[in-house]
Amino acid sequence: MSDEWKVSYRDLRDWLEMVQEVGELKIVKGATWQEDIGMATEMLHQVEGSPAVLFDEISDYPAGYRVLVNALRSEKRLGITAGLPKDLNKLDLSMALSKKFKKCKPIPPQYVDNGPILENVHLDDEINLLEFPSPIWHEHDGGRYIGTGSYDITRDPDNGWVNLGTYRVMVHDEKHVGFYISPGKHGRMHRDKYFARKEPCPLAIVVGGDPLLFWAGCTELPYELCEYDWAGGVRGEPYKVIKGQITGLPIPVDAEIVLEGFAYYDDLKTEGPFGEWTGYYGSGFHQEPRVEIKAVYHRNNPIILACPPNCPPDEQAFFRAIIRSPLLKEQMETAGIPDVKAVWCHEVGGSRLLTAVAIKQRYPGHAMQAGHVASQCHIGAYCGRYVVVVDDDVDVSNLEELMWAMCTRSDPATSIDIIHRAWSTPLDPRISPEDKDKGRLWNSRAIIDATKPYDWKDDFPVVNIPSPERKKKTMEKFGYLLK
Ligand SMILES: Cc1cc2nc3c(=O)[nH]c(=O)nc-3n(C[C@H](O)[C@H](O)[C@H](O)COP(=O)(O)O)c2cc1C
Repeated sequence: MSDEWKVSYRDLRDWLEMVQEVGELKIVKGATWQEDIGMATEMLHQVEGSPAVLFDEISDYPAGYRVLVNALRSEKRLGITAGLPKDLNKLDLSMALSKKFKKCKPIPPQYVDNGPILENVHLDDEINLLEFPSPIWHEHDGGRYIGTGSYDITRDPDNGWVNLGTYRVMVHDEKHVGFYISPGKHGRMHRDKYFARKEPCPLAIVVGGDPLLFWAGCTELPYELCEYDWAGGVRGEPYKVIKGQITGLPIPVDAEIVLEGFAYYDDLKTEGPFGEWTGYYGSGFHQEPRVEIKAVYHRNNPIILACPPNCPPDEQAFFRAIIRSPLLKEQMETAGIPDVKAVWCHEVGGSRLLTAVAIKQRYPGHAMQAGHVASQCHIGAYCGRYVVVVDDDVDVSNLEELMWAMCTRSDPATSIDIIHRAWSTPLDPRISPEDKDKGRLWNSRAIIDATKPYDWKDDFPVVNIPSPERKKKTMEKFGYLLK
C-alpha cells in the first residue's frame, strides 16, 4: 500500500469538501425533520452509489443546523474515509482495507485542552436537546432519533478500557435521551457492570464527526481494543481528544455534537419502536435506561451525521459488508483455518444473516470447520443465520453465483449442520414474542457445506461454464452483440 493513500481529511467538514470535489454531495434546503429527511434517506439507501445528502434550512430550525445522510453509500466515499484509492470496486476496496489493517498498529488518542467542539458548551439549564433537528426516520418510529450515525463512549469501571459503540439514541425531552444496546455488545458490558453495583454509568454520545470513527464504532472490533486506537492506527496519527467536563471521558475535539451524562439502573423509559437493520420493528418498544444529559458540546453550525437502518440492502449493509468481510476472514485465519480464500457478509442479510466463505479444501471436515468458526467467532457470531461454505471457484460476493453453488453442490439431508442457542438479540424478527419476554434471546444457525464433497470432489461433474480464455475470445468476437 503506497504512502500516498493516507487519510487526508481531518474532520467531517474537510471530508464533505472532498466528497463535493468528486461530485458526490447534494445539498437540500427546506426539508422537514418530521417526514422528508427520513423519506429521502429510505430512497437513497436502496441505491448503491447514490450521493451523500446534506440537509440544511430544515423546517423549524435555523440555517446551518444540518443533517448528513447516506455518507458511506459509495466506494469512492469509503475510499476517502479510509485513505484508500477512490476508484476501487467493493471487492478490491475490501481487500485493500484488509491489507491496510494488517499494516496498521493501534495509536492511542492524544489529550489536548482545546478544539472546535468547545465552540458551544451548554450546562444544566442551558441544555436543550430539541435545539438539534433530529428527524423521525421511519413511518412507525416512536420518536426522534438523534443518534444513528453516532457512537457512545463508555469506560470499563474495572480496567479503564474505553469503548466506542454505535447504539441508537432517541430524544425523550430537552434533557434526556434513551439508548438501546443489545446484550453482549461492549458498551452493554460496561453499562451492566455499573448497574450491577447500582452506580450511574457515565457516557458521552458523539452525534456527528469523523466518519472513520463512526465506521469503527459500528464494527465488531476485538474485546478491549479501543476504537480510537484502531482508527488512529488507520489514520497514522492519534486522534485529539479533550477530557469531558462531567465524566472525564475522551471526546474528539473535531466532533460536531457531543452529549455527556449518566444512565441510571433505576431510571427507565419507553424506547422505540425504531425501524431496524433486519427490515422490521423486531424489538418493538420496551423500557430502557434513560440518560440524563449534563453537558452538551457543539460546533457552530453543527452537523448530525445520520445512518438510520433501513430494510437491507441499505447503506449500513453496504459499508459493513466491505469492512466485516475482511475482518471475518482474518479472524478465521487467526483461529487456524487454512486456505480461506474469500469471505462475504452479504448485504441482503444486513451483512450478518447470510455469510459466504470460499475455501480451497485441504482435508475431510475442512468445510464444516470453516463454517462453524465463521458463524461463531466474534465478527460472525451476533445474530447470524446462514453460513454457506463453497469451493474457491465461486465468487462469494456474487449472490446468484453463491446460490447456484448452494443449490447444485449441497445435499439438504447431509450438508447442513444446525447450531442451537446461538447469540441473538431482541431485534431478531424470528424469535417469538414469548421467548423475547422470557429473555430467551438465542437463535439457531445453519452451516451449509456447499463444497464439492471432499471424498469424490475430483469426480464431481465438470462445470458447464466457459473458461476465462473462451469468455475472452467470445467477447472479442461477439461482444458487439451486447452493445
Ligand atoms: C447504523 C447502525 C446502528 C446500530 N445501532 C445499534 C443499536 O442501536 N444497538 C446495538 O446494540 N447495536 C447497534 N449497531 C451495531 C453495533 O454498532 C456494532 O455491533 C458494534 O460493533 C458495537 O460496538 P461494540 O463491538 O464495541 O460493542 C448499529 C450498527 C449500525 C451500523
